[in-house]
Amino acid sequence: MIAPISGPIDLTDKVAIVTGASRGIGRATSVALAREGANIAACDVLPCEDTIADIQAVGRESLDIQCDVLKKVDVQKAVDQVIHAWDRIDILVSNAAILGNSSKELEEYTQEEWDLLLQTNLRGTFLMIQAVWPYMKKQGSGKVVCLGSIAGRIGGVLAGPHYCASKGGIHALVKWAAKKGERHGIYVNGIAPGPIATPMTINEPYKDEMVPLGRLGQPQDIAEVVVFLASQASNFITGNIIDVNGGILMV
Ligand SMILES: NC(=O)c1ccc[n+]([C@@H]2O[C@H](COP(=O)([O-])OP(=O)(O)OC[C@H]3O[C@@H](n4cnc5c(N)ncnc54)[C@H](O)[C@@H]3O)[C@@H](O)[C@H]2O)c1
Repeated sequence: MIAPISGPIDLTDKVAIVTGASRGIGRATSVALAREGANIAACDVLPCEDTIADIQAVGRESLDIQCDVLKKVDVQKAVDQVIHAWDRIDILVSNAAILGNSSKELEEYTQEEWDLLLQTNLRGTFLMIQAVWPYMKKQGSGKVVCLGSIAGRIGGVLAGPHYCASKGGIHALVKWAAKKGERHGIYVNGIAPGPIATPMTINEPYKDEMVPLGRLGQPQDIAEVVVFLASQASNFITGNIIDVNGGILMV
């Protein structure tokens, strides 16, 4: 049993893997975790040089890892690289995802686009958790944070059926893994953001007026919740999905 710990958040020398770290929420999260002292493996299909520069600016170590979460071999290689560099994994932020087409009629979605989206968002999250699990188990500790969505809660406002299903699946996976992790000191939680201004949503018709708090979310709004869930400050929370949506949804 881990006793409650008071005091400020401290991630000094923790090792974090962040997927989808090149931009948007993943980039802001990488920098926020580094600011609190963590070393970061920034994983993405896109180069992460801007993220790496931000991490270096706050004085932490980083790895820029080319990793497609669609490919189990990439996921395993990324984890191997992290173990080789730092010999531990304290934090996994499974953030990489695609949005897909949001505006078609139900009968227009193809099997191919359904499969690609589910494989990227849901299977990719599963593969990442699966790959870090043995190391966290051996350590007897770990914090996993998965990016879900308000779309997985309510069936979406401006999202397609495949995206909503993938995020609902992630919420369920979080709870399943949390139950398995309890006895190993592994915490698994999710975050369900509302509309956040990132490259993913730049061409979507998101408006400040959609949000009771009067503005779209920014990547930092999510990054700070990831920091909380990755830190000792959340040591009595597991299997939860935290809603971060400016008041759109209250459950
Ligand atoms: N922006 C929003 O409004 C919003 C709302 C709810 C949930 N989310 C979730 O937050 C997370 C981050 O979203 P964002 O808005 O920053 O998106 P984004 O598109 O700006 O960033 C996503 C990153 O994931 C990477 N990525 C995509 N496919 C990948 C793959 N196969 N392998 C590795 N990397 C891959 C992209 O290259 C990109 O860098 C996602 O899980 C998204 O579903 C976002």
